[in-house]
Amino acid sequence: MVSELAVFTGNGNRQFAEAVCRHLEMPLGEAEVFEFSNENIFVRYLDNMRERDVFIVQPIVSPVNTRLMELLIMIDAAKRASAGRITAVMPYFPYGRSDKKDQPRVPITARLIANFLEVAGADRVLTVDLHAGQIQGFFNIPLDELTALPMIAEYFRSLNLAAPVVVATDAGGAKRADKMSERLGCGFAIVDKRREGNDERAFASTLIGDVADKDAIIIDDEILTGGTVAAAVTLLRERGARSVYVACIHALFTERAFELLDSKETTEIVFTDTLPIDRSRFKNVPATVLSLAPLIGDAIHRIHTGGSVGALFL
Ligand code: R5P
Repeated sequence: MVSELAVFTGNGNRQFAEAVCRHLEMPLGEAEVFEFSNENIFVRYLDNMRERDVFIVQPIVSPVNTRLMELLIMIDAAKRASAGRITAVMPYFPYGRSDKKDQPRVPITARLIANFLEVAGADRVLTVDLHAGQIQGFFNIPLDELTALPMIAEYFRSLNLAAPVVVATDAGGAKRADKMSERLGCGFAIVDKRREGNDERAFASTLIGDVADKDAIIIDDEILTGGTVAAAVTLLRERGARSVYVACIHALFTERAFELLDSKETTEIVFTDTLPIDRSRFKNVPATVLSLAPLIGDAIHRIHTGGSVGALFL
């Protein structure tokens, strides 16, 4: 059994790491993590690391490649300081959409990142709702994938919607929508989304399922430009949905996403705090943030004490 628990963070989202530590009722470990003027990253732990069970909480937010590099260097520094076990806590796993060779001569970047983490010295990974579950298989070390779906479903249950229907934004999201509809005891529908080549713009023209006079709840794993969800909102309104809620786990939200989603066509937008988003940026649409810090905190406690992580979702 590795000894004392220690939680550290880089510059990904300090507030989130502090919330995790508050839940664990322990202080966040002290570390210097900064960039020199030549953009080289420097890391130094200010606490003893020997034999400790170290969790490095680092949401990979913009600038993504810098935050990822910070995490890798923090893992290396912890290893060299004789940490007993190192867990990379990545509430949002970057490059998840690059998980297969779906066109000639492209990388599988999600797999490359898995390799980086292992080479740096991570013993385990803790993450939340991967873009595709198969990414778990890119790792040769244990990976715990938590899910925010039960928490999001619970939120919608508390709204007591009269006629809910869960909507996936594309065929790839159908399983997620199905799981959520099971939790809400309602049906689900699928939007047929298309992109042209590697263009970020999304088009939605076909809907499988019925949303007329219903309270549609769009669920997606991540929102970046907002194009996918905005196209779905418009389509659902055209097909007679009386309200359209938008929910996502990872709120990446570019400027364009705020422009597209802050429209009266959206009834409410719901997302988690795996990424730091200021909800007051939405002026026309109520925005609700559900915190994942308690769930991550509970998972860290269970991993540290050898408890079941799966039991968190029973
Ligand atoms: C795609 O497969 C994902 O599930 C999301 O639908 C996508 O990442 C959203 O991107 P955007 O907001 O840029 O349309």
